[in-house]
Amino acid sequence: MIERWDPSEAARLSNFLASLPVEDLALRLCSHGVREPAARLFHHLTVEHPRPTYIAEEEGRIVGVADLSVDKTVAEIGVIVSPQRRRRYVGSELLRHLASDAGRERIPMLVGYLLRENAPGLALLRSLGFKIAAFDGPTLEATLPL
Ligand SMILES: CC(C)(COP(=O)(O)OP(=O)(O)OC[C@H]1O[C@@H](n2cnc3c(N)ncnc32)[C@H](O)[C@@H]1OP(=O)(O)O)[C@@H](O)C(=O)NCCC(=O)NCCS
Repeated sequence: MIERWDPSEAARLSNFLASLPVEDLALRLCSHGVREPAARLFHHLTVEHPRPTYIAEEEGRIVGVADLSVDKTVAEIGVIVSPQRRRRYVGSELLRHLASDAGRERIPMLVGYLLRENAPGLALLRSLGFKIAAFDGPTLEATLPL
């Protein structure tokens, strides 16, 4: 089940992020150098507004979260799914919800940034139609016109 994240669920979201492997949080944040990556991502998801955020839930537990950071020119997507729940289209469904919101808001293009080493992330975005290009050193840029 995919739902919009509600701020009253801050503790559950924080616990979910704290349960994720540090390496996965680094891939999500596109950096291996972030201290306390779960807390950093929690701050990004809950404080740095405006950003539509969706959570995926199974059996009452959060299993994935995705967000769309919108500013004047860029709408940047980010997604992370629990390692135990991967390859079941949770990430795809979360991103489809964000793309659908963005389309309604007439946002012309989604963008995502990924480390070159992030084969699952690149495969996910390619499967959704994103085009991948070089960006900056170890970082690649994925774009999807809407
Ligand atoms: C990337 C990530 C979000 C994928 O989530 P997911 O729910 O497992 O992805 P989906 O099940 O929706 O995958 C959809 C398609 O993407 C591709 N894909 C996803 N993970 C893949 C993997 N490990 N290897 C190869 N292809 C993969 C496949 O084409 C897959 O379709 P298929 O299973 O029919 O072959 C997850 O691996 C993750 O949380 N990684 C850490 C954080 C991260 O890297 N986020 C992305 C950068 S913001």
